[in-house]
Amino acid sequence: MTGFDVNTAYSVKGKVVIVTGGGTGIGKVYSQRLAESGAKVVLADIAGEAGEAVAAGIREQGGEAIAIRTDVIDPDAVQALVDQTIAKWGRIDGLINNASLMSVLPRGDWFRIPIDEWDRVMAVNLKGIFLCCRAVYPQMKAQGGGRIVNISSSRIWGGNPNRLHYTTSKAGVVGLTRALAREVGDDKIGVNAITPGFTESETQMASSSSNYVAGRDQGRCFKRPQFPDDLVGAVMFLISDASSFITGQTINVDGGQAMH
Ligand SMILES: NC(=O)c1ccc[n+]([C@@H]2O[C@H](COP(=O)([O-])OP(=O)(O)OC[C@H]3O[C@@H](n4cnc5c(N)ncnc54)[C@H](O)[C@@H]3O)[C@@H](O)[C@H]2O)c1
Repeated sequence: MTGFDVNTAYSVKGKVVIVTGGGTGIGKVYSQRLAESGAKVVLADIAGEAGEAVAAGIREQGGEAIAIRTDVIDPDAVQALVDQTIAKWGRIDGLINNASLMSVLPRGDWFRIPIDEWDRVMAVNLKGIFLCCRAVYPQMKAQGGGRIVNISSSRIWGGNPNRLHYTTSKAGVVGLTRALAREVGDDKIGVNAITPGFTESETQMASSSSNYVAGRDQGRCFKRPQFPDDLVGAVMFLISDASSFITGQTINVDGGQAMH
């Protein structure tokens, strides 16, 4: 950026943005809001029908979106996602690594976590991000830059118990973000992370008991539930040109529970 154009800096209009896990929960809301703001959105979810439904809804509202069923731990599928995105829109401006195993995981003692479940969580939540970043990298480099946003969790600041694999994987997301930011800075690619607090996505609520949900907001400065829309501003900022000199950082969005 050579100057600051207030009329365009905060805009995502026309940007081509891939949202992994965009078919349900918070990723669905990122996709809808990005499209409402004029972005061209690619929903990459293993839940292919859910992604299709969200993309169709966006198009009905006059937005631009396509859904490509993608398992983020399958390198061929991730490459196909990138190839189809480029074939459709010619570039990739943003990647939001939002897909994760979370709401499907039981909460419980760390020593009871099945080893294969531990491995699956690491694969989707970490290797999936590595594969998606690796696949978009050549295009972002060739076009002169891009923005990557990795979704971590505010659990890592508090060391929240009972999903040890999940919390561990989300701490890894911050390490990946920092190290990758250094490796791709010369290519003008920004890499940042967001740590959401407990967010009342449809999927989180479906998998959380009312006892667990009750009191989630008490430790916050803003004592109210957190909703998917509370995360949209930070994500859009990190995709927009307004954040073009910010990289390797983690923005905590949890109503002021953790002070990061
Ligand atoms: N909801 C919360 O309280 C909360 C808090 C902190 C962080 N987060 C993070 O925010 C993101 C969204 O959370 P959510 O509440 O919408 O959860 P979610 O479980 O609904 O979202 C996960 C999405 O990822 C998709 N997905 C799972 N495995 C995949 C794979 N292998 N390939 C492609 N897609 C896959 C799912 O189909 C789903 O659409 C996740 O990264 C989650 O860890 C959520």
